[in-house]
Amino acid sequence: MKHLLICLLFSYLIACSPGKQDTTSAWPTFGHDVTQNKFSALASINTTNVTQLREVWRYEDTTEGGGVYFNPVMMKNRVVGLMPSNKLVALNAITGKLLWEFFPDSSEIPNWSKGMTYHPGNPDRIFLISGGTLYAINAENGTVITNFGKNGRVDFYEGLEVPDSMRTRIPVSSNAPGVVYNNELFIVGCKVPDELPSTPGDIRAFNINTGKLEWVFHVIPKPGEFGADTWGDNARLRNGGANCWAGMALDEKRGIVFVPTASPSFDFYGADRPGQNLFANCILALNAKTGKRIWHFQTTHHDLWDRDNGSPPNLVTVTRDGKETDAVALVTKMGYLFLFDRETGNPLYDINEVPVDTVSKMPGEKPWPTQPVPVNPPFARQGYEEKFFGRSSEWIRAEIEKNKYKTGIYEPPSMEGSIILPTAHGGANWGGASVNPETNTLFVNATDIPWILKITDLKKIRAGNELNPEILFRTYCSSCHGADKKGTGLGPDLTTRAKNYKDEQLVSILQKGAPPMPSFRFLSGEQIAAIISYLKETVVQQSFETANIPENNEPYGFNGYSFYLDPEGHPAIDPPFGTLTAIDLNTGNIVWQVPLGEDPQFKKMGIPNSGMFNRGGSIATAGGLIFIGATGDNMFRAFDQKTGKALWEYQLPGMASSIPSTYAVDGKQYVVVSVNGKQENNFKGGYIAFAIP
Ligand code: HEC
Repeated sequence: MKHLLICLLFSYLIACSPGKQDTTSAWPTFGHDVTQNKFSALASINTTNVTQLREVWRYEDTTEGGGVYFNPVMMKNRVVGLMPSNKLVALNAITGKLLWEFFPDSSEIPNWSKGMTYHPGNPDRIFLISGGTLYAINAENGTVITNFGKNGRVDFYEGLEVPDSMRTRIPVSSNAPGVVYNNELFIVGCKVPDELPSTPGDIRAFNINTGKLEWVFHVIPKPGEFGADTWGDNARLRNGGANCWAGMALDEKRGIVFVPTASPSFDFYGADRPGQNLFANCILALNAKTGKRIWHFQTTHHDLWDRDNGSPPNLVTVTRDGKETDAVALVTKMGYLFLFDRETGNPLYDINEVPVDTVSKMPGEKPWPTQPVPVNPPFARQGYEEKFFGRSSEWIRAEIEKNKYKTGIYEPPSMEGSIILPTAHGGANWGGASVNPETNTLFVNATDIPWILKITDLKKIRAGNELNPEILFRTYCSSCHGADKKGTGLGPDLTTRAKNYKDEQLVSILQKGAPPMPSFRFLSGEQIAAIISYLKETVVQQSFETANIPENNEPYGFNGYSFYLDPEGHPAIDPPFGTLTAIDLNTGNIVWQVPLGEDPQFKKMGIPNSGMFNRGGSIATAGGLIFIGATGDNMFRAFDQKTGKALWEYQLPGMASSIPSTYAVDGKQYVVVSVNGKQENNFKGGYIAFAIP
């Protein structure tokens, strides 16, 4: 009892002394904290009362509109989040009223920023990367911290080997935040082009006060460095990628940062990068102080499928055979859960190197002969098998026969095309997994829709130089944005917001792409001008300044991130198209798996609980709940951690392709989530908060 009183007094002091915030009631940084478990110890909203949850405020800016993918932070009664226009806002956590705004120098639209790093100090600072700049922002008032870098800014190309002349051709930014180690270093990855030319996405550490670059880890080794022999000669000059765009976890006590890395560029053709390609597609354990490698594990060798490690790792402690081990868990696009001893990198569930097809029809391509597969059960369907497509099996069988599609999980891509499952959308994706450390259960959402993957011959496309705007749009854009430009489930309406973009903004969007939208750098200046005229319904300009349009001399591209659909336009596979899975970390076994999302069309067809393509992630609370949006039915749901039963759902005005947050003020618990704008619902994109009134 005495102990309890002291605790109460202590938490009162922390909660009430100005400038302090107890982290239990806060959502202190991206993913809640450096374990990336997205777990909150708050329990006043729980399985018994979640049905009473109501919307209490929403924040939008009616002058903007578009997507928001941001996991908001709540510290000191302020909710801080990014808006579709790329400005940062701080909101009163109780009322949602605007406190301050911060405008980055140049805005990247659409931005895919998933969160920010918040660091308590004097003053509390926010590290945000926008365009090619890293900002340190004062969390009290939204002004830059002028003694950080040059006037609060660090050139985000610092320490990367991109010549000035290549900057417009190789845009570098970051849509995932980093971590702060030892009150000293801001450790962060970056986003680099998936197509060539690109640059190695090295991992860097900056001093949190001065912005000085402190260390760089070469994700593509220099000649002589460990792993250089897993590439062709001078790989750093030719190849790129292997970047971290997922976010990272930090073991503060051991001083180890765990970094998941992406595939090498170009994603789908690797003849110019012969070998295993370390440290692409790895989980890296780096010494946080020095950036030196402690261990690594590669989850896809010589990636030809864009199987980035796109989920932040989770720091967990598992009990096996009566022994506790501090471990790092990684969920992957393949639908695998890998688990490693944090110190040694030894796998806690066995991993088999499974032989795969090594015959590629692409010139010079040498697929790696084996791929690692853990023995614990996958959480997504593996390979495109007949038993998965009962609903449209006749049509599918005939299609496969006619087009001679191959269907293996690790089938080397070809110009004829192959059907793959899981795809680069996942399995798991950037929402990652949440973990309840009290029950040692991991929760992961996954997509279960196949792709048709085809390599395209860019030389032919360039030589053809088609200039008819409508033909160009139908060829390259309508599969996702619809022939009427009004959007499909795969891409947004282009008749509203996009129509009002400046030409330069459109050129930039088309050049860069933003997965799932591919880059269209292979199109000529005239072709881009034609497409833009079609979007804006204006007269075709001669061309765009070709200086701004990076040339791409690459021989091959791909057909875009394209789902394999049946003649009705539905996924050519049986439901569920998306799932939520609970895994017991002590055994690796699946405790339950339920469909995530409900496609209204399928419901009408008498197929309920179809599950849906999902993008975004879950959080877990001590109240026994999982909160997740992420689905195209624009629902926000609470599930029971024990059973997977949906206990509450709320119709949002747009899709929540983001990770929610939860926090408490004066003992009252809130849940907040960022929601994409949606024209039909007259919502411009922003934040919606819930509480029990
Ligand atoms: C594989 C699907 C796909 C293809 C193909 C595709 N897009 Fe997109 N596009 C998307 C997605 C998804 C977004 C992201 C929307 C968001 O930010 O929420 C997008 C975003 C955009 C935007 C920004 C929209 C906004 O409101 O900010 C524009 C403009 C655009 N696409 C134009 C095009 C054009 C022109 C083409 C053809 C040259 C094309 N897209 C091809 C999927 C696709």
